[in-house]
Amino acid sequence: MTVFVRSITFCSLLLCVCVFAIAQDAPEGLSANQVFRKDCAKCHGKNGEGRRFGGPSLVSEKTAGASADDLRNAIVNGKGRMPSFAGRLTPEQVDTLVRQIQAANKPQ
Ligand code: HEC
Repeated sequence: MTVFVRSITFCSLLLCVCVFAIAQDAPEGLSANQVFRKDCAKCHGKNGEGRRFGGPSLVSEKTAGASADDLRNAIVNGKGRMPSFAGRLTPEQVDTLVRQIQAANKPQ
């Protein structure tokens, strides 16, 4: 019986390790970016798919066709109803967002 309990414990431990390893392997995309989750997801959705307050999808022909500068401009200076993030994000944080938005628009 104890052997049984022990092997069950061992197996569930192993399962935990596996699940954890898979979670760690998740793509480093927008949805994993803390800045995006905190500042952008409320309008653009958890995965940038667009959501509330008129926030459009960030995965669209429009963003796919936008240059890095266009995207950077929209984030730093705001655009339409989108607020400006100048002074709230570091240039590195903005660059990461731009890169991840572009990556999200590339065919997988
Ligand atoms: C208050 C809601 C709101 C928040 C918060 C917000 N956005 Fe936006 N965003 C918008 C709206 C609305 C637009 C469309 C502006 C327009 O075209 O008139 C937009 C447009 C954009 C665009 C340009 C898309 C295009 O196709 O031209 C980018 C890039 C963008 N947002 C990125 C971000 C990022 C990155 C963040 C977080 C730092 C963020 N947004 C936070 C509402 C928001």
